[in-house]
Amino acid sequence: MTGPKLQRMLNGLASVLLPVLLAAAMPAQAAETVPAEFRGADLALGEKLILEHRCSSCHIRQVGGDGSAIYRPQGRISRPAALLAMVEMCSTELKLQLFPEDVHAVAAVLQRDHYRFKASP
Ligand code: HEC
Repeated sequence: MTGPKLQRMLNGLASVLLPVLLAAAMPAQAAETVPAEFRGADLALGEKLILEHRCSSCHIRQVGGDGSAIYRPQGRISRPAALLAMVEMCSTELKLQLFPEDVHAVAAVLQRDHYRFKASP
């Protein structure tokens, strides 16, 4: 195998692995500080649903950037129950037909990545 070709392969590999490694290195919220509402959620399922339903593509049209500015923990969605209700509302509004465990999973991912509510003592 020639040098440049190997280099390209390694670069390709790095671009695949790096995001995975970065995600793994990000400090996850310690389990006991996650509000009870979001414990036990299937986060992988939530991530998949958020991609599948293209939530950000529409949010990007609203707020630009990567769309995440739409998530405002200081705003109306100021506690876990409100986040769950909002995801439920979007699901109904957009006719996504999510099961309750899907709503739970999606809300838990938004909690982890954007809202970061603390468990009530
Ligand atoms: C067709 C466009 C559209 C799609 C698709 C969409 N949203 Fe939204 N979403 C909005 C708009 C518009 C708002 C802002 C509503 C407002 O502030 O009155 C919003 C607001 C929100 C909020 C509240 C943000 C906050 O803190 O106030 C959440 C949570 C949310 N969306 C979740 C989702 C999820 C999860 C999905 C995918 C399953 C999704 N949305 C798909 C348009 C969309």
